[in-house]
Amino acid sequence: MSTARFSRFGFILAAVGSAVGLGNIWKFPYVTGEYGGGAFVLVYLLTALFIGVFILIAELLIGKLGQSDAVSMFENLAVKKKNIWKYAGFIAIVPLIILSYYSVVIGWIFHYIAISFQSLPSTVEESKNIFMSLLTSDLQTQLMYHTVVFVLVTSIILKGIKDGIEKINKILMPLLALILTILFVYSISVDSFSKAASFMFNADFTKLSSEAVIVAIGQAFYTLSLGMGIIITYAASLPKKVNIVKSSLLIAVIDTLVALVAGLIIFTLLFDKGAESTKGAGLVFISLPSVFYEFGSIGSTLAILFFVAIAFAGITSAISMLEPMVSYFVNRFNYSRVKAALICSIFFYVLGIAALLSNITDYSPMLMVGDKNLFDWLDFVSSTILVPLGGILVVVFVGHFMDKEKINAELIPLLGTAFTKIWFFMVRYIIPMALIIVILNETGLFKF
Ligand code: PHE
Repeated sequence: MSTARFSRFGFILAAVGSAVGLGNIWKFPYVTGEYGGGAFVLVYLLTALFIGVFILIAELLIGKLGQSDAVSMFENLAVKKKNIWKYAGFIAIVPLIILSYYSVVIGWIFHYIAISFQSLPSTVEESKNIFMSLLTSDLQTQLMYHTVVFVLVTSIILKGIKDGIEKINKILMPLLALILTILFVYSISVDSFSKAASFMFNADFTKLSSEAVIVAIGQAFYTLSLGMGIIITYAASLPKKVNIVKSSLLIAVIDTLVALVAGLIIFTLLFDKGAESTKGAGLVFISLPSVFYEFGSIGSTLAILFFVAIAFAGITSAISMLEPMVSYFVNRFNYSRVKAALICSIFFYVLGIAALLSNITDYSPMLMVGDKNLFDWLDFVSSTILVPLGGILVVVFVGHFMDKEKINAELIPLLGTAFTKIWFFMVRYIIPMALIIVILNETGLFKF
């Protein structure tokens, strides 16, 4: 790789920065609400630990042994040369597709930071009107913030691994931890904290469906940024002496902790004001703003802290989505980082504009295919089909097509022979099957 390597701490922060994103703070609480609280949380913990950590180890292995960009590593590490694996590395395009709409959402968050400084909506109705008018008619504001995100992430990625990615994560991640701690301590002091805790940790298995298990697997995947060449790319810049098993565990544990803490904070605030845990965008952009209002004088401070925290989490994830393709262009075509970064950023920027236009009433009929607009299609195709598909490619590749001896030489000293065997078994057979089930179910091709 042409840029300097991460420090050990810098790598963990960057990987955690990628993993902790909108998925933890926004998606985890609402899927938990929707799929029955405690039982879902337990299943999610198990999948994050077993499936998540196992694939993290696989991705760190590819990066550590491959030492290149995501596309080249698949090609170079395959045992049989002249192989089709060179195409698998193009999973690195998936995060650029995700980034198109993710950037628009980070833009909404910026707008809500501004709203929190001015005045919060006093009722859910008002809150809904504010969000819907932003979404369906305020092209200018959305475009402006999307452009701000574009400029911000491009200028960071230009500076490379050490001076760009590592540096920004070293600033934003500790700040994020601080803000979440403040919000968490505050929510412990609120009466409904115990109600939130029992909602999240009392497992009622009668509420658990097979659908919930599948959603939990999908969520564990998305939230750990797996199957997209991201962790693989970061791992290629790992410092030489890093224990990849410990690092994988640490990344998964921190990411999960953030999701749990965010869930506890959000449910405490919602329950305290008797608000609903609405689906999707509604939770963060409709329910919570009016809940913050009801907290009176401290409400706008809570709102500012909350939205700033999500913005930080979002930006560090957004940066990680750019790096795989940037490093591919730099590595394979000898492009300067500036040129590579601009090509990738312009791609997501333009696609993002199309995505946000598809929510605007005047343009939406043109950007509608079947029952979804472009924005929803991008989210659906990338996070429910391409991400698990990328995951399958990673585990099948590592399990069946890489040099087993090389993998053993890395893993046996860390895991011992028995655990290495279990890891191989999971990666070869169980995880690919689980992921196929996820894709079949979420696309509606076959419901379990
Ligand atoms: N893991 C991030 C989150 O939880 C999402 C993400 C998706 C990050 C794709 C990188 C790539 O929000």
